[in-house]
Amino acid sequence: GFLPASSNSGRNLLETIKRNGKNTLVFYGSQTGTAEDYASKLSKELSSRFGLKSMTVDFSDYDFDNFGDIPNDILCFYLVATYGEGEPTDNANEFVEWLENEADNLSSLKYTVFGLGNSTYEFYNSMGRKLNEKFEELGAERFATYGEGDDGKGTLDEDFLTWKESVFDTLKNELDFEEKELTYEPGLKLEESDFLTIDDSEVSLGEPNKSYITGTKDLSKGPFDHSHPYLAQITKSRELFTSNDRSCVHIEFDISNSNLRYSTGDHLAVWPSNSNENIETFIKAFGLESKNDTVFQLKKLDPTIAIPFPTPITYGAVIRHHLEISGPVSRQFLSAIASFAPDDASKQRANKIGNDKAIFAQEITQNLFNIADTLLYVSQGKPWTKVPFEYLIENVAHLQPRYYSISSSSLSEKTTINVTAVIETEKKDNRWVTGVVTNLLKNIEIVQNKSSDKPVVTYDLKGPRGKFSNFKLPVHVRRSTFKLPSNPNIPVILVGPGTGVAPLRGFIRDRIQQKKNGSTIGETLLFYGCRNENEDFLYKEEWPEYAKELGESFEIFTAFSRHDPNKKVYVQHKILEQKDKINKLLESGAFIYVCGDASHMARDVQASFSKILAEGRGISEEKAGELVRSFKVQNRYQEDVW
Ligand code: 2AM
Repeated sequence: GFLPASSNSGRNLLETIKRNGKNTLVFYGSQTGTAEDYASKLSKELSSRFGLKSMTVDFSDYDFDNFGDIPNDILCFYLVATYGEGEPTDNANEFVEWLENEADNLSSLKYTVFGLGNSTYEFYNSMGRKLNEKFEELGAERFATYGEGDDGKGTLDEDFLTWKESVFDTLKNELDFEEKELTYEPGLKLEESDFLTIDDSEVSLGEPNKSYITGTKDLSKGPFDHSHPYLAQITKSRELFTSNDRSCVHIEFDISNSNLRYSTGDHLAVWPSNSNENIETFIKAFGLESKNDTVFQLKKLDPTIAIPFPTPITYGAVIRHHLEISGPVSRQFLSAIASFAPDDASKQRANKIGNDKAIFAQEITQNLFNIADTLLYVSQGKPWTKVPFEYLIENVAHLQPRYYSISSSSLSEKTTINVTAVIETEKKDNRWVTGVVTNLLKNIEIVQNKSSDKPVVTYDLKGPRGKFSNFKLPVHVRRSTFKLPSNPNIPVILVGPGTGVAPLRGFIRDRIQQKKNGSTIGETLLFYGCRNENEDFLYKEEWPEYAKELGESFEIFTAFSRHDPNKKVYVQHKILEQKDKINKLLESGAFIYVCGDASHMARDVQASFSKILAEGRGISEEKAGELVRSFKVQNRYQEDVW
């Protein structure tokens, strides 16, 4: 099952290293799995290319009290993502706290760092930079250059490859490591059930609840988290709007029979699964047609590698529930898998495309090819039957949950979680490219209308409660810091265009409930934006209801960006129009909440608030900018942006 890799040596990293004869560590701080995926690939490459004894390290699996004693003949790589407002990822949280407050002397540490960040956020790559600086400050020796990658510009993969190549150059030229021909050294060995006696009821078909019982611990009552999601029943699914390229659904999850708890503003993690279409192509690409129901078990060849999902399991379940087969493929993946090509011509093509950034972009990325599409394109339709399934388990990224801002109120809906999700479909050369999330939502009896040539996603809402009345999805709650002030009397200014309005709806429902409970409620201003009043106005019929409940203290200001084709009207313009009112509210201690697009909206909105403060208080824009930043530090200006 999901036992941590270190289980045989407890939480003592030094002992784990010694026991397993390792000399290279690839630490990762990962939230959505990207850093983890990079770490596992890098670790394997360090082993197979340089003969290093490498292992990956999840920060949260170990204690750090003897971290300073890692000897200087061990190479330490740190791949760390920055999350949200310059925060560490959940699994690196404690390590960073330790590094900042407790670590003193790290003079025997040999390290290099690669930061994974997104330049559309304010605190770009702050974690990578922090580790790099802090290590240096504490006397550690950097053996290869610091690197960072930018997901905001879409260059993360390429940035990582560039950094990796430069580190490899250092290993060869300065540290005198010899490079070997790339070979695959499996860390896991697959054993099919012909050789095993397995009780059918123990076979995982991918449903996460099977993994609730690990050893003697019954986890069916929770706690529900990343490794143990709750199978939540969907009780309602309602289309909020549909237009030609997008649609939006409101989904309600019943949590009444669980002890899953949430608080308004938290995120719901929803576990996706792959679509039948994508599974079919994948099976074809690797010639796995006869294997779908075959049961297998995994054995560790390298004790430091974790078994990534519950076993025994079927091939089909791994492909549907665990492998990320629907997304884009990386150049690195194609180059690495080339050695398993079905024939020489395919191998040459795979290498040629994989080694050339421009060709790869044009022939693979621009066609929105996933792994299977790519390989079948390269081999001109021949199946890649020489690829060991262990290789796929070890090298294809694993499906990760998708996070949604919860749009209900934990005060008024204690046992229901609402989610507001947008579905986008892309069309390429007459082919629908649907993301894994779209498929997930399709599973809720949201079926794509294949006969129509319009890119519409339609929903099967036949029957009294639709066919989804029994449908369950694995979910868990991720706590967020996006929270209303504890005193309901404090005024709030809410800004959330598009689906950014989701958690703000929860906040407003909170305030209505607080009012019903007898509290005095401060002003609530909502700035909402969408394309057109009659096209994509979310919860249009609810706002007047809320206004009735909250009375004059509630006001909504709407920006319809495509109403006038010659003029974009956005929330930040509406905010500027209300400068007097906003200044007065801020004087009286109002909190600001911004949710939605990080790349432009959040920035423009912040600039509007700075401008208003500069004017209202007669200070320079620079001073006002500092004031807004200090609001952020005091949690008086909170963002939930993506
Ligand atoms: P647009 O698509 O017409 O440009 C929700 O997606 C709304 O946010 C849409 O009305 C969208 O407008 C708008 N939007 C796009 N860019 C924005 C920005 N930089 N600031 C604020 N709103 C923006």
